[in-house]
Amino acid sequence: PRSIYLCRHGESDLNIKGRIGGDSGLSGRGKEFAKHLRKFIQDQKIKDLKVWTSQMKRTIQTAECLGVPYEQWKALNEIDAGVCEEMMYEEIQEHYPLEFALRDQDKYRYRYPKGESYEDLVQRLEPVIMELERQENILVICHQAVMRCLLAYFLDKSAYELPYLKCPLHTMLKLTPVAYGCKVESVYLGV
Ligand code: G3H
Repeated sequence: PRSIYLCRHGESDLNIKGRIGGDSGLSGRGKEFAKHLRKFIQDQKIKDLKVWTSQMKRTIQTAECLGVPYEQWKALNEIDAGVCEEMMYEEIQEHYPLEFALRDQDKYRYRYPKGESYEDLVQRLEPVIMELERQENILVICHQAVMRCLLAYFLDKSAYELPYLKCPLHTMLKLTPVAYGCKVESVYLGV
């Protein structure tokens, strides 16, 4: 059976600073992850593997390191945090206390001012998911919020659970369809 491999980009410069969003490049550790990812992909000897990324620097840089062709999807870009882009959670709490509390109350439906909600993201990802269903072996290099949405779809998780699914950096999830569902294997490729 085919497998869908999901991971996030390697650690970015903004990840190090504890800032969300933005479009920064990979940190040194992030580049190390990309090398481990290349080794993992080579060792797995996956038949006809396709690689998809978002249009953000950090996923593209991660894919570049693999030395194989890849396809960029704008629809795979990270959730747009609007006015909170490039802020630290503590800064959001300080500058937009109401917004911060609202998000905590309904993380799935909460929409950042001038940005998106997880619910928006699920809608944006619909065409990607349709195409994923038609593909054979595929690696999707994406972002935390995006990976949560894809994972929730394949594992049939509720809207309540979705925004809290654990998708850490430098961790590959391998999804393989089995009768009525998906088997999940998690592989840490960190440094
Ligand atoms: O900034 C985007 C993060 O990847 C999403 O994390 O929804 O838990 O704040 P969060």
